[in-house]
Amino acid sequence: MLEKIENRTAEIAVVGLGYIGLPTAITFANAGFRVTGYEIRKEVVERINSRKAHIVEPEIDELLKKAVESGNLRATSDPDDIRGKDAYIICVQTPLNEDKTPNLGYLEDAVRTVARAMKRGSLIVIESTVPPLTTIKMAKLIEEITGLKPGEDFYMVHAPERVMPGRIFEELVYNSRIFGGITPESAELAERLYRSFVKGRTFKTSSTVSEVVKLMENTFRDVNIALANEFAYLAHQYGIDVFEAIELANTHPRVRIHTPGIGVGGHCLPKDPHLLVWPARDDFGLIRLAREINDGMPLLAKDLLFDALKTVNLPPEKAVVAVLGLAYKGDSDDTRNSPALTFVDEIRDEVAEVRTHDPLVGGTHENLEDALRGADAAVIATDHTAFKSLDWEKLGSLMRTKILVDGRHVVENPPVGFVFKGVGRGGY
Ligand SMILES: NC(=O)c1ccc[n+]([C@@H]2O[C@H](COP(=O)([O-])OP(=O)(O)OC[C@H]3O[C@@H](n4cnc5c(N)ncnc54)[C@H](O)[C@@H]3O)[C@@H](O)[C@H]2O)c1
Repeated sequence: MLEKIENRTAEIAVVGLGYIGLPTAITFANAGFRVTGYEIRKEVVERINSRKAHIVEPEIDELLKKAVESGNLRATSDPDDIRGKDAYIICVQTPLNEDKTPNLGYLEDAVRTVARAMKRGSLIVIESTVPPLTTIKMAKLIEEITGLKPGEDFYMVHAPERVMPGRIFEELVYNSRIFGGITPESAELAERLYRSFVKGRTFKTSSTVSEVVKLMENTFRDVNIALANEFAYLAHQYGIDVFEAIELANTHPRVRIHTPGIGVGGHCLPKDPHLLVWPARDDFGLIRLAREINDGMPLLAKDLLFDALKTVNLPPEKAVVAVLGLAYKGDSDDTRNSPALTFVDEIRDEVAEVRTHDPLVGGTHENLEDALRGADAAVIATDHTAFKSLDWEKLGSLMRTKILVDGRHVVENPPVGFVFKGVGRGGY
């Protein structure tokens, strides 16, 4: 296997071609490996084979074209096409159920598919973010299905993905990576495989440490954002701008306060803290409280909107509200767990009309001007670059009432003639 990795003849199957799996498959293919991408959504398979990415990411179209045209990447939804591969890289989603417990159904299905396709000596890598101890459980599942012994007859690793949407192809190469093996040999093999394109530092550990590391990283961010959000609430009570206060506090050499906003979304941050504590015996107050604070932020934005409507004596049930941005983060088309959607749900039944406009998300008003024409309030819910340089004084002339609520600190100076509110912007 090592020799096959060194001379790029190892055959790879990537299972799940979403935000993580597709860029990973493309990157391995462009590093010289023959890659088969296995995906259950047939329309995604068709798009990829016709060289059109189904996700928005800088450079993805050129890199996908290169990978497919070189003959190194092919997508399929036929499990027979991934039989007998040297390495399987699992990148399926690991969401939460309604009750906030992990839904490992996609992962288990993917592992079963791999178990039926793999051969003795295959390396199986789980890139998906999973609750602690899952990789060992999945190795046992493979043993039950195949009779092969984990660590002896096949290698298994958790190799968490740390990329940030919008910078995926750069970060795939330059981020440091953790390889958590169920045995040291497993970790070694995965490290060698990924070294074919990773230029960042690489570390080997056990699969459980690796699972915890990934979850700690996102929990750290979630808890710190919750603290920043709590500071935002305080800023409203004290009539100050939290962003000015944070900038000044961050001049301290050992302080780095995160950025408050309308909420925390995406596939990862809202779920990973739950995955971290789920298998544990005891309850973990701080981590859960942080989740509650972050989940509650769309309600602060709603309060700000309703305050503004009160200022102009407009009853909410008569107000037309335009929400700008549905994606959970700037310059992305990803709306999973987006606080913008929660915000829309929260106000929908209480106002006359909610319109949405997101230049990267389908099914919304295509045109910003159309969304704002005759509206009483604009609410910025995503920090898309396109929203940072808007001429509000001009756009205001299209609106029936000039209310602007900034949920993402996109507007530095409140535009003249507007009733302005912003998350963390006390004093307006
Ligand atoms: N998106 C990110 O920024 C990010 C960053 C780091 C880690 N992660 C983790 O990576 C994992 C994948 O996330 P994502 O954003 O790429 O998810 P995604 O939903 O975009 O992609 C998952 C893909 O897997 C496919 N799939 C589901 N079950 C399958 C099966 N049994 N066989 C084949 N294909 C199957 C789905 O149809 C989908 O296309 C998650 O665990 C996530 O937590 C994501």
